[in-house]
Amino acid sequence: MCGIFGYLGRRNAVKTAIDGLKKLEYRGYDSAGIAGVFQGQIIGCKEVGKVEGLEREVQELDFQLESAIAHTRWATHGKPSQINAHPHYDNARSLALVHNGIIENHLALKKELVSQGARFVSETDTEVISHLIASLYKGDLLFAVRKAIGMLKGAFAFALIHKDFPDQIVVVGHESPLVIGVGEQEMFVSSDPVAFSEFTHNVVFELLQPINRCLNGNDEVAVVHRDTFEVFDAAGQRSEKKIEKLTAKFGTASKGAYEHYTLKEIFEQPQTIRSAYVDRLSEEFGTAHFEEVQTEMPELLDVERILILGCGTSWHAGYLGAYLFEDMARIPTQLEISSEYRYKNPLVPHRTLVIAISQSGETADTIAAVRELKAKGTNVHGSTLSRIADACINMRAGPEIGVCSTKAFTSQVVILSLLCLAMARMRNMHKEDGKRFITAIEDLSAQVEQILETAPHIEKIANKYAHHENFFFVGRRYMYPVSLEGALKLKEISYINANGYPAGELKHGAIALINENCPTVALCSNKGTYEKILSNIMEIKARNGPVIAIAESGQKGLEGIVDDIIWIPEVIDELAGIPATVATQLLAYYIARKRGTDIDKPRNLAKSVTVE
Ligand code: F6R
Repeated sequence: MCGIFGYLGRRNAVKTAIDGLKKLEYRGYDSAGIAGVFQGQIIGCKEVGKVEGLEREVQELDFQLESAIAHTRWATHGKPSQINAHPHYDNARSLALVHNGIIENHLALKKELVSQGARFVSETDTEVISHLIASLYKGDLLFAVRKAIGMLKGAFAFALIHKDFPDQIVVVGHESPLVIGVGEQEMFVSSDPVAFSEFTHNVVFELLQPINRCLNGNDEVAVVHRDTFEVFDAAGQRSEKKIEKLTAKFGTASKGAYEHYTLKEIFEQPQTIRSAYVDRLSEEFGTAHFEEVQTEMPELLDVERILILGCGTSWHAGYLGAYLFEDMARIPTQLEISSEYRYKNPLVPHRTLVIAISQSGETADTIAAVRELKAKGTNVHGSTLSRIADACINMRAGPEIGVCSTKAFTSQVVILSLLCLAMARMRNMHKEDGKRFITAIEDLSAQVEQILETAPHIEKIANKYAHHENFFFVGRRYMYPVSLEGALKLKEISYINANGYPAGELKHGAIALINENCPTVALCSNKGTYEKILSNIMEIKARNGPVIAIAESGQKGLEGIVDDIIWIPEVIDELAGIPATVATQLLAYYIARKRGTDIDKPRNLAKSVTVE
């Protein structure tokens, strides 16, 4: 996790680095720091909390640097504190270093370094790198860094400044992203080009794909000067790197009239859902196509099994996808949480299509799972894990700034529905059924719009229940993944303990928790199991549990039974997950707002989870 930024050039280095860091806060925001050389000395400043705290501090101190490295942290080793914040130094303060990733053998290295006299001040794994490089440095910094990275295990990217080389930043990207920005007499280093894209679009990374913006995979070291850079391979030989043009558009994110990015992104969904399907539907043939995977389409015909991988919200989208592929395309589909799958030594039969789902394309667990499959010789069709996947379908949802994922989920579900439609039509689905499914997809935007119009009603319900500390979300079939997603949203942004549960499973144990202080959100939209969930609601009511139903207009039997109802439009079961999820997003948002939490940047989280 964590965001790294570095700057050498004609601008104010401190201000440029702080502005860059603000754009990297999606990678973590529990502490931030900056360091560099000033009048021959390494000096630094660190603060607990968000980058704005660091900004205030450097302004008060009138902190100046000639060149700067900076960092925004998501704690892995050691709690968020000033001492654990990056940059980290060696004992002589000859160097400062910022790091993203995990040094897996840090304990063994620390023991060795301590025996040589190093004094550690933090609980981080990062500090090992600073002491290690300092211990190996005898005047040749490049040699010391090369030697050190040969001794480090794990995925890591780091940038360092040494006081003997005030006009250089040395950078390494080993299975963690790091990109160099080449400006006019100025150079940038960053975990993500978004942080310097307003200054230059000339970048150096191996591939222009969002996932592996790593400088290298071969332990290369880059030395960045004020107006140029050099890259050296593991043997110390210079390697040539192409300067490429950024093609991605980086708009300046703005909340507009909305109080939070999260709310804005919830309200963007009628457009983002449309963008996910527009140009991808063939009304005449009742099917879907993706320009990104068109050439591979014949391969899709041979697919006999599907494996879906993802984490968190992306895994929930995959859950709905798995139901769809089995129901509509009649293809056996396995769903796996990336972080578990990786360590399974899985059986992957021939002709398995792997769909890796990720909003960020940087989730370490999902990348690692896909790499594991690649190592097994599997033919991988991924979504955003572009570099390692054979094909990538873009969500076209625009940047998601709120840490909790909202519009990405609905876009992912639309795309899975389209892919499923295409595969179903290649198999047994009738053209007329395909056409009907297309109409249902095209209706989604307007249906989501209708739910958004009921926001004031949902807010009233949210205010009524916001004081509760425990919630259940229950659903059956297509509503079960929605219950998981609804519960996750509530947990993330309101810090309420919420459990997503298959409604029929409650009676096998969890119903023991139901009482008048534990409300249940009952997701009723799956028409095929409506009678069944009504019985489950009765079971909850019989134990004094308050029930908020999210139900489709026309569903009878709820009024007078449940405590509150959020009505949503009628949608076919296969797509009902989309509108129902939007209702749960609004409910979670307004509960969190009532509780006064930091909705866009909830505690302990980061937008991109780049450590395993
Ligand atoms: C929840 C959330 C996370 C992510 C998960 C996977 O709101 O945002 O659960 O869904 O970390 O991230 P991606 O989709 O970027 O791989």
